[in-house]
Amino acid sequence: MKTIVISLGGSVLVPSLESNNIAAYAGVLSRLADRFRVFVVVGGGGEARRYITAARSLAIDEATADEIGILVTRLNATMLISALGTAAYPAVPTSHYEALVAAASGRIVVMGGVTPGQTTDAVSAVLAERAGADILINATSVDGIYSADPRTVPDAEKISRLTPEDLLAIVQGGRMDAGANNVIDLVAAKVVQRNNIPLMVIDGKNPENITAALVDGTFTGSLISRTGESVLPLE
Ligand code: UTP
Repeated sequence: MKTIVISLGGSVLVPSLESNNIAAYAGVLSRLADRFRVFVVVGGGGEARRYITAARSLAIDEATADEIGILVTRLNATMLISALGTAAYPAVPTSHYEALVAAASGRIVVMGGVTPGQTTDAVSAVLAERAGADILINATSVDGIYSADPRTVPDAEKISRLTPEDLLAIVQGGRMDAGANNVIDLVAAKVVQRNNIPLMVIDGKNPENITAALVDGTFTGSLISRTGESVLPLE
């Protein structure tokens, strides 16, 4: 059975508490778990950013704001675990080691952040390495890697195939403060470069995009791999 690690952006899972995609994701992940060994790293989303903004207004330092962000990622992970029911391991691992122990249950493992100064993208890249993943999937609010941030640069171009070095060149220069919102963080890009695990960046607003890519090979995001060859469908 192949192993997949999904970095599930809080911006797509829980853009806000009232408009969340938890039920839709629970359905898709349960079905994927019939075919694959599944790890999910959940982000903080809009609620984390609200907490971080409130923390800053209290002159709380960035590392403590990060800790607050991590707590929100774990809250989101707990929501997803609860929606998955018996398909998921019932606790939120607080380290990569705990995630690997949880995976021995054979169930979907869902975690959030682990340490200040990074994002859940970095957590997922290291987890992919430790779990010997066949693919790392970044399900996010943009539909791939662009030459510049498409939310602020209108003529930014989408790049469908790139090497880890290309990715690193694009990611360098991104912000690193608590709540920063880059398509993928620098630590994650560096880990992807060293581990050679293919990374798929995909529009996560529709969870079925993940199934379409993995099972049918229908893929419209960006694929980062050393060889440039597609690994999809992953069977
Ligand atoms: P993320 O930035 O990973 O969540 O974590 P997100 O909101 O899902 O990001 P998108 O949707 O992919 O863009 C929220 C915040 O939690 C802290 C950081 O402050 C981060 O911005 N965090 C998270 C850490 O400090 N360490 C971690 O390991 C994870």
